Amino acid sequence: MSINTIVGQAATGENFYERPKLLNDIWRIIESGSNILLVAPRRVGKTSILFYLSDNPKRGFRPLYLITESVNDENEFFRKLYGHIFELLDGIEKFSQRIKNLVGKNKISEISKSGVKLEDVKLDYYGALIKLFKILDLDGEKLIIMIDEFPETVENIKRDKTETDALRFLQKNRELRHSAIIKEKAQFIYVGSIGLENVVSKMNASSTIDDLHSFGVPPFTEKESRDLILDKILKNSEMQIENEQVRFLLSKIEWLIPFYVQLIMDETYKLYSYEELKKITNEVIERAIDKSIQHKLYFDLWLSRLKTTFKGNEFSFVKSVLNHTSEKDTISSAEIYNYAEGFNITEIYKNIINTLVYDGYINNNDNPKIYHFNSPILKRWWYKYVAN
Ligand SMILES: Nc1ncnc2c1ncn2[C@@H]1O[C@H](COP(=O)(O)OP(=O)(O)OP(=O)(O)O)[C@@H](O)[C@H]1O
Ligand SMILES: [Mg+2]
Repeated sequence: MSINTIVGQAATGENFYERPKLLNDIWRIIESGSNILLVAPRRVGKTSILFYLSDNPKRGFRPLYLITESVNDENEFFRKLYGHIFELLDGIEKFSQRIKNLVGKNKISEISKSGVKLEDVKLDYYGALIKLFKILDLDGEKLIIMIDEFPETVENIKRDKTETDALRFLQKNRELRHSAIIKEKAQFIYVGSIGLENVVSKMNASSTIDDLHSFGVPPFTEKESRDLILDKILKNSEMQIENEQVRFLLSKIEWLIPFYVQLIMDETYKLYSYEELKKITNEVIERAIDKSIQHKLYFDLWLSRLKTTFKGNEFSFVKSVLNHTSEKDTISSAEIYNYAEGFNITEIYKNIINTLVYDGYINNNDNPKIYHFNSPILKRWWYKYVAN
């Protein structure tokens, strides 16, 4: 059999490597009644965790997953949420009739996969949600509403409407999760591949999210990565890798997020089968890494994300900093400042650097004055395809 992995897509079922301590921690926060902000850089495995929570809920909790990446309007956001709640409950036998009874009262004409069709399109969905929760009897169960790519929604509203609208949207969400009616029946997990804290602090609106329990998803440990390779990815495969080569591979990845592990294992397997190799050596792994860097699509998101977040001089600054770091391996605070001066953004450049750290591009863990890429793989991709 070939290897067991789908590169790029959120891991579900058999493919998902469980991190029980981490999942327990999340449940503990949920059970304490808090609303969560799940934070981690791109590709660390946030969506996979949400899917897992969705598929394996604790008794008394009804998880609901929605992704609001493309939403750029407050009412549209609450409409989507409303539609998803309807759909979820409609699919649960004991709630289905209760939900149907509400349809007439709320001017809902049809419930469909795409959400809710309305007779009155101008319906205020925030109000409708509150009303829905008021009359809804969930038998003491609680909805866990997991909103993926939430910070994107905030940014979309800010970009396509105004900053005031984005602020209002954040306030509405705060108001919603604190309303006595909602608190009793629902909790929220907000997730995003960009730091909500950074998005919000740029707007001086930190008070709109300071009630959230911030929970960071760390990268995999070496042991977890090894188990992911040996117990999951290679579980039924005829390709085997010696411990020494696993160690070599992990040392090359350095920043152990499952995405890179999958990607390089996938390329290793391709070499193994195309070239009918008998043994995976360090040299094969080196070649697999070279090949994985050629996947423009997998890495492009790291660049496109920056293009949508930063414009004009800010983007030029970010690009210069990352180009420099990809070429020289490191960049010092003084060099960063020089770039900031050159692009006339000395007022805000620290915030931008914080975003790059937060979103998993660079870190200064070893020395506060020296930054380098988290991932040597991303560094090499950046050097080859962006800097040159
Ligand atoms: N626990 C896990 N076990 C196995 N593979 C995983 C796990 N978590 C994540 N992955 C893999 O890592 C990659 C990224 O996962 P996922 O989409 O969940 O991350 P994300 O943090 O939501 O990414 P993004 O920030 O781009 O939305 C996927 O290819 C997925 O299959
Ligand atoms: Mg995701």
